[in-house]
Amino acid sequence: MKGRKRAAILISGRGSNMAALIEAARNPDYPVEIVAVISNRPGAPGLARAREAGIAAEAVDHKAFASRSDFEAALEARLEAHVVDLVVLAGFMRLMTAPFVQSWTGRMINIHPALLPAFPGLATHERALEAGVRLHGCTVHYVTPGMDEGPIIAQAAVPVLPGDTASDLAMRVLHAEHKLYPAALARVARGEAPVMGERVEIVPGDLMFCE
Ligand code: GRF
Repeated sequence: MKGRKRAAILISGRGSNMAALIEAARNPDYPVEIVAVISNRPGAPGLARAREAGIAAEAVDHKAFASRSDFEAALEARLEAHVVDLVVLAGFMRLMTAPFVQSWTGRMINIHPALLPAFPGLATHERALEAGVRLHGCTVHYVTPGMDEGPIIAQAAVPVLPGDTASDLAMRVLHAEHKLYPAALARVARGEAPVMGERVEIVPGDLMFCE
């Protein structure tokens, strides 16, 4: 397909969502090409996984920089070098400054392992179990300066089953993430996702996986 958007995936760890996105983008009709994977941790297992899939993968080690903004300047230079249209955060564990985030408004998305606005931050599965919710899931959202606060693009829900441990729930949610993220990124690339600030249109049954 012509006019595919060029995306970089930012990771910090194992990169299973990254792998799902790379797999989706193998289809020439998918509207996004993954042009680079960048990790802030040089030892992230996802880097090797990306290289095995034939994607340019590199580290920009945040520890090598004196400040958050120096790190972001180096990251920005790599994104520019790859001529990136979209930045896709997939388990990227660094908070970014408001100026950096704002320079990517409407072009940077994240996946969070909870049905936002419930359970922002870490340990979402443990907190979902403690709260006794019956539905849990994941959210793809635009990135704004407030953590896990940006406009919601798509969500997938999964049931919380009797006897679930946090790791059972994490696996069920992760499986949904791997389906949701490629679908949500495609919508953003095609201009079908609500853009920043627009009212979210809810389509019943759309992008809701419950199994
Ligand atoms: C996922 O659960 C994602 O929602 C969260 O971090 C985890 C990353 O996992 N932001 P992986 O590196 O994609 O396997």
